[in-house]
Formats: sequence, structure tokens, C-alpha cells
Amino acid sequence: MSVFPENFLWGGAIAANQAEGAYLEDGKGLSITDVTQCGPTRYLDYTLEVDPGKYYPSHEAIDFYHTYKDDLKLMAEMGFTVFRTSINWARLFPTGEEDEPLQAGIDFYRDLFATMHELGMEPLVTMSHYETPLALTKKYNSWASHEMIDIFDKFARACFENFGDQVKYWLTFNEINNIFKAPYLAAGMDVRGMDDFMPLAFQAAHHVFVSNAKTVKLCHEMLPDAQIGCMLSLSNIYPGTCKPEDVMAAYNARRRSLLFGDVMLRGSYPGYGWKMMRDCGVELEIQPGDLELIAQNTCDYLGFSYYRTSAFSDGDSQVFSTAGGVGHENPYLKASEWGWQMDPLGLRFTCNELWDRYQKPLFIVENGLGAVDTVEDDGSIHDTYRIDYLRDHVEAMAGAVEDGCKIMGYTWWGPIDIVSAGTGEMKKRYGLVYVDRDNEGNGTGKRIKKDSFEYYKKVIASNGEDLA
Ligand code: BG6
Repeated sequence: MSVFPENFLWGGAIAANQAEGAYLEDGKGLSITDVTQCGPTRYLDYTLEVDPGKYYPSHEAIDFYHTYKDDLKLMAEMGFTVFRTSINWARLFPTGEEDEPLQAGIDFYRDLFATMHELGMEPLVTMSHYETPLALTKKYNSWASHEMIDIFDKFARACFENFGDQVKYWLTFNEINNIFKAPYLAAGMDVRGMDDFMPLAFQAAHHVFVSNAKTVKLCHEMLPDAQIGCMLSLSNIYPGTCKPEDVMAAYNARRRSLLFGDVMLRGSYPGYGWKMMRDCGVELEIQPGDLELIAQNTCDYLGFSYYRTSAFSDGDSQVFSTAGGVGHENPYLKASEWGWQMDPLGLRFTCNELWDRYQKPLFIVENGLGAVDTVEDDGSIHDTYRIDYLRDHVEAMAGAVEDGCKIMGYTWWGPIDIVSAGTGEMKKRYGLVYVDRDNEGNGTGKRIKKDSFEYYKKVIASNGEDLA
């Protein structure tokens, strides 16, 4: 018998900016990703304008804005019971500051969620996934400013008012812990040219924490039957050796992420968080009532991404990737073509770590393998490497369930090929469904089922039991 509960949610996850395209259609404003190009440093190296001579992958992406009905049918064919996507904020509020949301944006998302329901999928909705309206970055430097709390509140209210009857599972800010390493992606903050942006990053994180608490409160008031979680990048870190200094250094590196869970799930800044701020010379500006709001409105569950692990020793500096902070290579693990070290057992370890710490339901909302796929002459795609990755991680998750961790569901990242957040490439494919499109935007856009499609279908049909 399967170890997964009957109501376990199986599915996949995407983000609007990486899939929808239609970047200016129906009145949408520019988002921060609409000015990032293809390349390994796209989140550091950008301008705040669209240069008409250059290629921007989010402008067309995989055209999900127009193809979602057919794409979702493919997801339903695999048996998905949940589908995670985000609401592109600038589709509702093109500059973030309009008084009322755009009707076209509301209509689009209402139809998207209705389609999911017709096909038997619960929508799991991220409110902000690397897609702050660009105008807010230009005017306020985004979350660096306290103004953002009210601006986001208006957006959240519009989401709950317009989609509250369709969406039961919400997530506030995608991987907000990446603010320390990728402040532009995670929080729309432009820190180019600053010698030390850490004080600003801590202040921005505080604004996000207050906003998160306000949003949780609003959700609970307006939609008492819904659940709202936070979302963190929690690919894990191991001590480089058992030398006590390395163990402490790895733990402190991990705390740069756990801090975010501690505030949003436990409701207060931990002692080590204040120490981190002292060490960075931060004097946090806290408004009256902020800490009470945070304490009284914690998230219902923890959504997190898990892709890899890495080793961390005293003296290592944390290098950023979209799979979290990386120290140095672990000699016991193999890496993907993009150098991400694959570690299924690490997922079981991470679930246990997080369940022990928070005692709140976990939702694995991102896990997957980015790889180069080859289309054979007969049109088939034999992605055994992806099947292996999926099997090993589902097995590890089953182990975590047996260990007693409460896990709500699992959404494979990028079940259909989409634009990579970290590099802007199409070549870094996660999909169980292939999309004929390359890094320069060429291709027919045709969808092809990969071998992993049938495999995941079987896994879901057996509620995670048949992994052969
Ligand atoms: C997570 C993000 O960081 O990792 C996704 O939430 C992203 O948006 C995913 O796509 C995988 O990273 P990448 O860089 O391979 O696309």
C-alpha cells in the first residue's frame, strides 16, 4: 500500500514570467524579468529598459498565455491533481499603482483557474514569483521601500476578491530568502553599484515579512477555507567536514535561509537573526505594530523548492544559484549538466529538518532536473536521466512520509519546458513535455511528450507506489 495519503496532491509548477509570454498583451505592464536577457548572470546584469535590438526570453516564453488550455490537458493526462503557477502582478496592475485591477488580467486568470478545475486540478497560486512590476523598481526600488506594503496589500486584496472562489492554496513570495544573493529577482531591488547592499536587503526583508503577515491575515479573514503558505528555496547545505568550525559555518549558512521560515512560520526574529543584522551593521526600522502583526499572522504551511545539496566549510563564501547558496563540491554526489549536485536522500533529510523545526505541513512545490534533451529522428525523447531523478526523489519523499513528516503534495518544477529563471535558457529543460523553442526564440513551439511523461503518469496513478 502507498505510504502517501489518499488526498496527497501530485502535479507540476511553473511561474507566469517563465511561461506566459504575451508580455505587453491586454494592457500588461513590464515586469522585472521582461528586461532580463539570456545568460548566466541575467539577474545581476540587466538594464531597466527594453532594448528593441535585443532578445528577452520572457516576452514570448512558451506562449502559455495562448496555449494554456492544450498545455493543461497534457498535465491532466498525467493525472495531475494540482497545478502551481503565479499571477503576473503587472497583468493586474501594470505599474503596481493603479486604483483598480485590469479586467483583462482578471478574465485571463479566472479562465486559467476554471480550466484547471474542469481538468481535475487544484490551482496552487504564487502571488509574487520573480515578477514585480518594473515601475515599482524604478520608482521605489521595490521592497527597499515601506510603500510596498500598501501597494502589495491592494494586489493581494484584488487576488482574494477575484480568485478566492477558485483558489484554495496560496503562496505569498517565491524564494524570498534569495534576497541576500539575488535581490533583483527575489524582491525587485536594483542594487547595482552598491558596495554593500546587505543593510538594505535586511530592511527589504522586513517589509516583506510585514507584508506577508498582512496578506496572511487578509486571506484568513476573506477566505476562511483557504490555506496560505510561504515559499523558500531550501536546497540544503552539509558541513564540508566534521571539524566543529565547519559544522558551525554550515549551520550559519543554512540559517540565512531558515531565518525566513522562522519569522514567517514561527512569528518572530530569532536571536541569531538579530546577531546577523548586528554583524552587517543593520539598524532595522520597525514601525509600531510590525512585530505583533508578524507574531499573530504566521503561514499555514511551508512551500519549498529542493534541487540539490552542496558542502560548506569555514571560510567558504556562499555562491548563488537559483537552487540556493552553494559552498563547494561534495565528492559523494554527481552533478547535472549545470553543475547542480543531485541528492535524493538530501530531500528526505530536508523534509525531516523542516518538519522537526516548524511542525507545519510541508509542500514540495519545486523539484526537478534541468537537462539538455535530444529529439530522436522518430520524434521521441528518451530522458531516462529525468526519470531516474524523479524516481529517486519520490522514493526519498516516501521515506520522509514514513519518518512522520506531514507533506501535502509534490509539484515537479517545469512539467512543460519553460524559460530558466537563472539563465534565461530554453535549453535547460525540466519538462516531461518538450517545447520546440531554443535559446534565441526560434522553433515551432510544438509540444512533444518525453518518456518521463508516461513514467510520472504511472507514479501518480499508483499514488507514488509504483516507481519501477
Ligand atoms: C527556483 C525558481 O529558484 O528554481 C524557479 O523558483 C526556477 O523560478 C527554478 O526556474 C529552477 O531554476 P533555473 O535557474 O534552472 O530555472
